[in-house]
Amino acid sequence: MEKLVINGGNRLEGRVRVSSAKNAVLPIIAATLLASTPSKLLEIPNLEDVGTISQVIEALGVKITRNGGDEIIFDASMLTATEAPNELVRKMRASFLVMGPLLARKGEAKISLPGGCAIGARPIDLHLKAFEALGAEIESTEEYVCAKAPNGLKGTEIYLDFPSVGATENVMMAASMAEGKTIIENAAEEPEIVDLATFLNAMGANIRGAGTNVIRIEGVPSLHGAIHTVIPDRIEAGTYLIATAMAGGDVFVENALPEHLKPVVAKLKEAGVTVEEEIDGIRVVSSGKELKAVDIKTLPYPGFPTDMQAQFMAFTTIAEGTSTVTETVFENRFMHVAELRKMGAHIDIDNRQAIVAGVPSLHGADVNATDLRAGAALVCAALAAEGTTKIGRLHHIDRGYDDFVGKLKRLGADIVRIDE
Ligand code: EPZ
Repeated sequence: MEKLVINGGNRLEGRVRVSSAKNAVLPIIAATLLASTPSKLLEIPNLEDVGTISQVIEALGVKITRNGGDEIIFDASMLTATEAPNELVRKMRASFLVMGPLLARKGEAKISLPGGCAIGARPIDLHLKAFEALGAEIESTEEYVCAKAPNGLKGTEIYLDFPSVGATENVMMAASMAEGKTIIENAAEEPEIVDLATFLNAMGANIRGAGTNVIRIEGVPSLHGAIHTVIPDRIEAGTYLIATAMAGGDVFVENALPEHLKPVVAKLKEAGVTVEEEIDGIRVVSSGKELKAVDIKTLPYPGFPTDMQAQFMAFTTIAEGTSTVTETVFENRFMHVAELRKMGAHIDIDNRQAIVAGVPSLHGADVNATDLRAGAALVCAALAAEGTTKIGRLHHIDRGYDDFVGKLKRLGADIVRIDE
């Protein structure tokens, strides 16, 4: 099994450039299914999940051409199937994002139920309810979901019971080619939603209001390919801010958009960390000591991002005082607590709230990533801990961090990836 071996205590110094956002590039790759001519995406990050969603759309007939760099051409002019391969959907639930485009383009889709994962049941009821409102007939069993719209989709008003990111994206893509107008109320407002809408509009769609909780879509009969550069990954950027704040150092996180990280920056400043927001990135300076306890509560955007909860909890484990971490978005996103305890963290859980009593420092231990962001949190903790930490189950981390080891090494971290 491959492991990361990290000797904590090194300060992090220098510049790190964040890659394009995983949670923007996945729906945008799914959206290429809508176009009857090729699309070109630039600066595609090298992530497991990008490989998986690419395999899914290739199985549907999309021709993918790689130029050997980070540019990829997706040609969906000839779709040959409307069923996503089960093993790929099970591997990555975001594969479910092909349902909206398939319904819009082909009038049908069959996808195995994405199932839950470590952080929660991850139901898709809001997606299905919205597709039915657009006129699709849904048939679902324990294994899969079948959706059919033989007479095409019809625009309508849709209210999302929860501002679900995936449901907002799936509906936006389906409605982009529905007949007439669709209004999505209580839509998710994440920057990744805005980036998807920007790409869809470049393809000829007519979408207004992305980034607010009301999105208006005027359906069009067809969409063409477009060229697009995906937005930077705000969660990857936030992870480097936390790593530097904990280990101590002076790092410039290039290509990070400060406006996408306001809650995280605000909380780091509240904890006594120096954070300077520049035009082309964010600078973080920290002694790694005298960090102050703070309380965080995750909320849909623009609230504190749930995808930064594990990393920030790691930070609070060595802050002076008691912090509370409340997770309101997912029902089981505290899997990292047990692993952080192995490193000496003092954390109690009371339902959806973790109470963290800061300790002077963590110590190295053998731990495992339980999900993507938990893995990132353990890396941050290990960089600040005394001694050596070994982290297993790296496939979780490989899903969402491009060249994590290389980028950290270049900042001065003592980190290697071994095959034990
Ligand atoms: C996206 O997942 C992200 N993934 C997640 O990032 C992120 O944590 C999440 O949004 C919230 O910001 C991608 O974009 C690929 P949701 P998604 O639908 O779309 C409930 C990471 O680490 N819900 O907004 O699945 C659901 O159970 C990953 O990069 C329903 O009840 O998130 C959850 O409690 C993890 N019914 C809440 O909404 C539905 O039909 C938020 O889910 C859909 C969702």
